[in-house]
Amino acid sequence: LPLILVLLLAAYLIGSIPTALWVGRRFFGLDIREHGSGNAGATNTFRVLGKKPGSVVMAIDILKGWAATMMATVMLHQGAIEPGQLLYFQLACGVLAVLGHIYPVFAQFRGGKGVATVLGMMLAIAPATVGVCILVFLVVLVLFRYVSLASMSAGVAFALLQLLPAFRPQNPLLLYFGFVLAALLIYTHRANIGRLRAGNESRVPMFGRK
Ligand code: G3P
Repeated sequence: LPLILVLLLAAYLIGSIPTALWVGRRFFGLDIREHGSGNAGATNTFRVLGKKPGSVVMAIDILKGWAATMMATVMLHQGAIEPGQLLYFQLACGVLAVLGHIYPVFAQFRGGKGVATVLGMMLAIAPATVGVCILVFLVVLVLFRYVSLASMSAGVAFALLQLLPAFRPQNPLLLYFGFVLAALLIYTHRANIGRLRAGNESRVPMFGRK
């Protein structure tokens, strides 16, 4: 099998590791998808299981996106792709990991919403833009205390920031991809959007506010 195909498959499989589900099962004996928001992600792990497991799941889910995207660098070093093709394969590997996270082969295709994995992917591709998006995430989170709203805001901020000269990517494909990923995050948060509109989305307890 050609190396490129093996590594693309590996990217999807890495993304498919259902961290939240396995941490919940192994250490707490529960299916995280039956608790809290029902999402197999870092946010719901914080909500249902606490800070320590939440941090572990978040770190691993970010790492999944980053490691999968680095598969493209391996392809380059192995001479399987040309330097001019690096971005294309970074995006392909990263997106496969994100889709693996959302539709994991190891968990009946019921995974998370892709926020941490997109973050890890984009840290490998556009770290400066991601830095600003993390600030956007934190500001929205402190102001409104909805992780979902903060996540979607950060995703949209990524797409819009890249329109500015300071963050404009050399390759326009990355610019288009920013919008594709923002749309994907809004799509995976469709149930959250319904709850936000209905006024029953769960808030993060913060500064003594419940
Ligand atoms: O990590 C995804 C986050 O944006 C929303 O998660 O559990 O509140 O639906 P949750």
